[in-house]
Amino acid sequence: MGLPLTAAPSRARTRPWWRDAVFYEIYVRSFADGRGNGIGDISGITSRLPYLSALGVDAIWLTPFYPSPQADHGYDVADYRDVDPMFGTLSDFDELVAGAHDRGIRVVIDVVPNHTSDRHPWFQAALAAGPGSAERKRYLFRTGRGRYGERPPNNWKSLFGGPAWTRVPDGEWYLHLFDRAQPDLDWSHPEVGAEFEDILRFWLDRGVDGFRIDVAHGLVKEPSLPDRRRGQPSPAWDQEGVHDIYRRWHRVLEEYDGDRMAVAEAWVDSPEKMARYVRPDELQQAFNFHWLLAPWSAAAFRDVITQTFAAVDPVCASPTWVLSNHDVVRHVTRYGDGADGVARAKAAAMTMLALPGSAYLYAGEELGLPQVDVPESARQDPAWLRGGDVGRDGCRVPLPWSGYRPPYGFSTDNEARTWLPQPADWSKLTAAVQDADADSMLNFYRRLLAVRREWISGLGARIEFLDSPPGVLAFRRAGGLVCALNCGRRSRRFRVDGEAVLTSSGETADVRSGRLPPNTAAWFRTG
Ligand code: BGC
Repeated sequence: MGLPLTAAPSRARTRPWWRDAVFYEIYVRSFADGRGNGIGDISGITSRLPYLSALGVDAIWLTPFYPSPQADHGYDVADYRDVDPMFGTLSDFDELVAGAHDRGIRVVIDVVPNHTSDRHPWFQAALAAGPGSAERKRYLFRTGRGRYGERPPNNWKSLFGGPAWTRVPDGEWYLHLFDRAQPDLDWSHPEVGAEFEDILRFWLDRGVDGFRIDVAHGLVKEPSLPDRRRGQPSPAWDQEGVHDIYRRWHRVLEEYDGDRMAVAEAWVDSPEKMARYVRPDELQQAFNFHWLLAPWSAAAFRDVITQTFAAVDPVCASPTWVLSNHDVVRHVTRYGDGADGVARAKAAAMTMLALPGSAYLYAGEELGLPQVDVPESARQDPAWLRGGDVGRDGCRVPLPWSGYRPPYGFSTDNEARTWLPQPADWSKLTAAVQDADADSMLNFYRRLLAVRREWISGLGARIEFLDSPPGVLAFRRAGGLVCALNCGRRSRRFRVDGEAVLTSSGETADVRSGRLPPNTAAWFRTG
């Protein structure tokens, strides 16, 4: 028997909905196109609400749909209180929220507070007003180094490649941790904080249930913007000051009923650092990226689980689990592609969905979509265009819904060219084909989510590791569920006394006979 682990009891009187919810991330451009131009949009999502209901998710998270020049596909916002005409209108958005709520699905939206678009009126005003002006103070403008100010003010690099500074014609430089079209805001300026609190209220008043906070660990920089030095903590990320912002946001969310929530996207080094974002007076959740970053290994997964509970318990938060999102290689591919990749993806999902806490799914994982090798000429990610690396387009290819050739029902126009090309061999992965196949990944996810909703989510928030053969991770969830996952290369004997096999990600008959095949997970039910 291993260490008993607990997710500490809820800090609210009743259990808030998000504590064990299954969230489903919708990369808006790539989910469903309701207007026939090859780009996903809000009405496309509304038209697929029946699919989401049948899948059994509790909430959807929409990536940015605000007016934007789309230099980073919406993560460069020019107006935080509207919908880009490419994606629809505010009334389309209201319709989506109403339709989702009618089906019991909550709606979480992305808020992008670290940077605006370079087309945002504040940045345009800053450019026009010139050095030393009040308008420039909402951003991080500095003079350059060198005799003529010809070198960037410090050595920080953009996450998309190249320097994190761009020089404007009057000679000053501005900071952008991402693309040059995404200037970083200066969060020490009081107007910046006030503006974002107002933006949160704008959407809360429209009925959203929560926010996903983009680059939550980046808002505050070390004030002197010193050079980054090897082996030293970065002056650009995870500064203490970000927590004051989230304490204020906590109070904004508390002004509303319905357990509104926010989840931090904070790529920090360890679960301990992540847990600082979910202290009782800060955010409700933070993405736990440590499983996603772990190799395919029972020992590594066990470490992640142990460290996660050890980090969130003391702050009375509940954990989150995530295998994929729109920034990383899809996990079917990370786990080896082909039959092994698919088997491991199923087994990992099963294990994640057995754990206490909430799970974040990424649209398409329920279809078992692999990463796509998008032809260079079609790539659009600024991370690729700036020469950083291959980019993230491969996990953002529009979803295949039905039919035998692109756009596979993605678009209302059967001849539409999707914004990223879909592979020619995706007809076997469409939602329609999988709907009709009881053994498909889609029906597997539906079964798991149904069992989770009916039974697992009501179980205790405590887990205990069980003794298990090499390469096998096994834990018991208080209340009667055992989950076992074989990450090894060989089949292992595995049986739990007094437990019936409920289901497995492979051949359930094998598990009933006491064998857990490689790349397979199983759920057992006590009593
Ligand atoms: C988002 C990315 C985006 C970046 C800049 C992220 O972490 O998830 O897709 O490029 O923030 O906004």
